[in-house]
Amino acid sequence: MRIIIFSWHFLGVYSALWGLATGAFPSSVQIGGLFIRNTDQEYTAFRLAIFLHNTSPNATEAPFNLVPHVDNIETANSFAVTNAFCSQYSRGVFAIFGLYDKRSVNTLTSFCGALHISLVTPSFPTEGEGQFTLQLRPSIRGALLSLLDHYDWSRFVFLYDTDRGYAILQAIMERAGQNGWQVSAICVESFNEAAYRRLLEDLDRRQERKYVIDLEPERLQSILEQAVSVGKHVKGYHYIVANLGFKDISLERFMHGGANVTGFQLVDFSKPIVIKLMQRWNKLDQREYPGSESPPKYTSSLTYDGVLVMAEAFRTLRRQKIDISRRGNAGDCLANPAAPWNQGIDMERALKQVRIQGLTGNIQFDHYGRRVNYTMDVFELKSNGPRKIGYWNDIDKLVLVQNENALSNDSSAMENRTVVVTTIMPLVMRKPLQRH
Ligand SMILES: *[C@@H]1O[C@H](CO)[C@@H](O)[C@H](O)[C@H]1NC(C)=O
Ligand SMILES: *[C@@H]1O[C@H](CO)[C@@H](O)[C@H](O)[C@H]1NC(C)=O
Ligand SMILES: *[C@@H]1O[C@H](CO)[C@@H](O)[C@H](O)[C@H]1NC(C)=O
Ligand SMILES: *[C@@H]1O[C@H](CO)[C@@H](O)[C@H](O)[C@H]1NC(C)=O
Ligand SMILES: *[C@@H]1O[C@H](CO)[C@@H](O)[C@H](O)[C@H]1NC(C)=O
Repeated sequence: MRIIIFSWHFLGVYSALWGLATGAFPSSVQIGGLFIRNTDQEYTAFRLAIFLHNTSPNATEAPFNLVPHVDNIETANSFAVTNAFCSQYSRGVFAIFGLYDKRSVNTLTSFCGALHISLVTPSFPTEGEGQFTLQLRPSIRGALLSLLDHYDWSRFVFLYDTDRGYAILQAIMERAGQNGWQVSAICVESFNEAAYRRLLEDLDRRQERKYVIDLEPERLQSILEQAVSVGKHVKGYHYIVANLGFKDISLERFMHGGANVTGFQLVDFSKPIVIKLMQRWNKLDQREYPGSESPPKYTSSLTYDGVLVMAEAFRTLRRQKIDISRRGNAGDCLANPAAPWNQGIDMERALKQVRIQGLTGNIQFDHYGRRVNYTMDVFELKSNGPRKIGYWNDIDKLVLVQNENALSNDSSAMENRTVVVTTIMPLVMRKPLQRH
């Protein structure tokens, strides 16, 4: 704490003397970090990204150090989140990287909105247009609907929990209404393992063999295990996993069982930027960097990218000679009326204008802080493991790669054999068919 106070004092002198000549950008940039239960690996990705930034030999890339103030909170209730936010705010952070869950999201985003502190988050996208929230996680909605059209499913089971809100459920039910689909939507939030097994058996008796699973990773893994234990991982069943980390899920048993499993993969491990990061990642000491014994999950990759986004925004502000500082802002998060940070708007603008390539591909945001112009690969589980069958992006929609020779290792030749399968403009929806 003493060091921080000292550096504030130092900055004051610095900017008074050199303000005009240098733009007076701090050489140490304070950022917040807010981690919740079960996010060890995300925290590891965060620390690694900051370490790599701060040790970059390239002064153009890192003309300042990132100094994180981190809170790890076990229960993300609104009290704990308020405490963490307020403590970071009072320490003078310029932006916060943070994860939230269903119980803490509103508290956190409303503090950020009221005090003009931007929140950069890999957590599930919030509905509405939270002004100071940057969503690193792209929406899966368009990709999922395209895939359902591609498979031409008109009857299936939709298993969900409400931890990420109702956006996907709503989209599915809307489309079901338009197309006359028969969807059994089942909320499995309070289910234990025995209840999963009973449910799967029951659905099986009703001849349900097609599933869309929209669950948090822990629940997802648990229901997949139960599917194996009741023998529903064999030929004749088809599961679509509605998350962005197909390769994060362990599907060995399904592979041997023969059921079809389809999913989405945001991180392309064959890209140079990911390969380069993996070389560093694999050298991490797992005692010091928990979770580094397995490859980064997509949420950890989003976390890493979050640090890149923040660094790029600070570079922009520095280039534009915008003297960000928290001087004159007492840092009292509960002041009434709220005393927002004057330059919070500049910070937010710089963040939303970031355009960089990260582990999760092209990173670009719209006016509401949501990812646009992103791509995810579509994978099917085959008897020899997951195989890419195509990709989805918000411009071309679903593009399938026709690869008759299953094991082809020549991806450049494949590029000439792509076909556009569907193009669905989200805003130009067909009118519901009149059925009499
Ligand atoms: C330093 O980083 C900048 C920005 O990323 C890049 O354009 C430049 O090529 C880098 N210079 C060296 C020597 O790597
Ligand atoms: C599984 O995939 C195969 C090959 O793509 C297909 O022929 C079959 O109909 C699928 N099964 C189900 C239950 O969707
Ligand atoms: C989308 O991203 C690509 C880089 O992946 C970029 O070249 C292109 O200009 C972007 N498109 C739009 C509309 O911003
Ligand atoms: C992989 O590429 C090499 C070199 O182009 C070729 O000789 C080999 O047959 C390819 N393997 C498969 C499975 O297509
Ligand atoms: C793909 O098609 C283009 C245009 O027809 C051609 O110039 C290119 O060589 C082809 N690439 C491959 C890898 O076959």
